[in-house]
Amino acid sequence: MDPLSLLREFLVLVHLVGFALLLGGWAAQAVRRRYVTTTLFRTGLGVMIASGLLLAIPFPAGVHLDYLKLGVKLVVALAIGGAFGVVITREKAGRPTAGAFWTIGALAVLNAGIAIFWHGA
Ligand code: HEM
Repeated sequence: MDPLSLLREFLVLVHLVGFALLLGGWAAQAVRRRYVTTTLFRTGLGVMIASGLLLAIPFPAGVHLDYLKLGVKLVVALAIGGAFGVVITREKAGRPTAGAFWTIGALAVLNAGIAIFWHGA
């Protein structure tokens, strides 16, 4: 296998580790009914966006990327970032919000669904 194909597969692995941190960290809080963020799932979102943007670079030659799908995923990932902002602001104000917290989990699952079910043209 050529080095660039191996690098792409390695980045998909990093992307999935990011997903595990994001959704796993979020779920660990959800089951305790603690609607505040942790370093674990904040890190997961950062890993997802960074590895996702690297995966959006068209390599190796001949790889097919669906930029409409990737654009939608980026918008959803940024919306998760927005929900994080709301959760952290409310947390600092001493008024944790369950709504924005559940939005983070729902949008994370939505983005995984888009990654898997969207086959495009
Ligand atoms: C919370 C945010 C995200 C989640 C939950 C997520 C989830 C996933 C999952 C589960 C896969 C593996 C699917 C498969 O290989 O069939 C995947 C692959 C991929 N993701 Fe993400 N992702 C997120 C954000 C992003 C972002 C922001 C980008 C880039 C703009 C991106 C680009 C990609 C690419 C290029 C792949 C490789 C497979 C493909 O082309 O669809 N992801 N993502």
